[in-house]
Amino acid sequence: MEEPAQESEVHEWLDVDQFPVHLKKYWYQRNTIWHRYHQGVWMTKDAWFGVTPEPIANKIAIHVAEAVPDRQSIIVDAFAGVGGNAIAFAMSGRWDLVFAIEKDPATMKCAKHNAELYGVKDKIFWVYGDSLKEIPRRFQGRDDVVIFASPPWGGPSYSGEEVYDLSQMRPYNLDKLYNSFSPFSKHLIFYLPRNSDIAQISAHGPENHDVHVAHYCIRGASKALCAFYGDYEFGEYDEEEEEEIAKETDITQAKKITQEDTIQVEETATEEADVSQVEETTTEEGIVQVGGTAEESNGQETKE
Ligand SMILES: C[S@@+](CC[C@H](N)C(=O)[O-])C[C@H]1O[C@@H](n2cnc3c(N)ncnc32)[C@H](O)[C@@H]1O
Repeated sequence: MEEPAQESEVHEWLDVDQFPVHLKKYWYQRNTIWHRYHQGVWMTKDAWFGVTPEPIANKIAIHVAEAVPDRQSIIVDAFAGVGGNAIAFAMSGRWDLVFAIEKDPATMKCAKHNAELYGVKDKIFWVYGDSLKEIPRRFQGRDDVVIFASPPWGGPSYSGEEVYDLSQMRPYNLDKLYNSFSPFSKHLIFYLPRNSDIAQISAHGPENHDVHVAHYCIRGASKALCAFYGDYEFGEYDEEEEEEIAKETDITQAKKITQEDTIQVEETATEEADVSQVEETTTEEGIVQVGGTAEESNGQETKE
């Protein structure tokens, strides 16, 4: 049963004067993080540190939708937060079922409200609980499930490291995440700090399978990466289609440069002229290694 959310933890901040001073930098990013922010998005204080900005969530949703084999028809967002990724997955229209699992009642309340604002609340199956228990309970023996996980990163300390040791990630390190979810899906996607140790990422996954890593950037600076475990087909870029998607998502410009094994996508969001960029390079080991420079001033820098 869902615990009642503490009303005092659910906020609709529409005025800078009410906005918590220690979160002020996010005020200036609010319309990039949610393009419908002023239509009444709900947030908790903690959610600002971990929410996936909408242009990035949309880009991930597109990548996943295109790259996953057709027979995978269910996607599970194991750490749904206030809904950033779950909403984007539901809006993509690609899935028969989108599950959103969240263990904090106030955060879950925000996610449901935000999904309603984006018109997809009823397209998401909401699970209040611990994903490490719910996933084994619900998806044992299925082979049509994709698991997306944007776990807490254990505080901002990762950003001070040149290469972040994923064994130190708290409360769930990479081993824990991989071992918890891999028995229930052959398609795992982990949203991790931009400076994550690529060697640790590639040490997981089935033998003789590539691990793909894509960096997601704003203003040319990587904010986070996704590690894709399993079989994916990252297709050819279609400029017209990308522009169409960009229009629908309030992104005014989309561009891609294709070289032998480098893919780059740039998008400019209308309000704050932010740029999302994805760059992938296939290494000889078959790992897609991705470029991007770091910047210290984005919401994703201080995830939980
Ligand atoms: C980084 S946030 C996810 C942000 C989300 N992608 C979004 O865009 O809003 C991580 C979330 O995982 C939740 N969480 C942590 N451990 C969990 C668990 N075992 N099961 C379900 N949710 C969990 C936290 O409460 C937090 O809301």
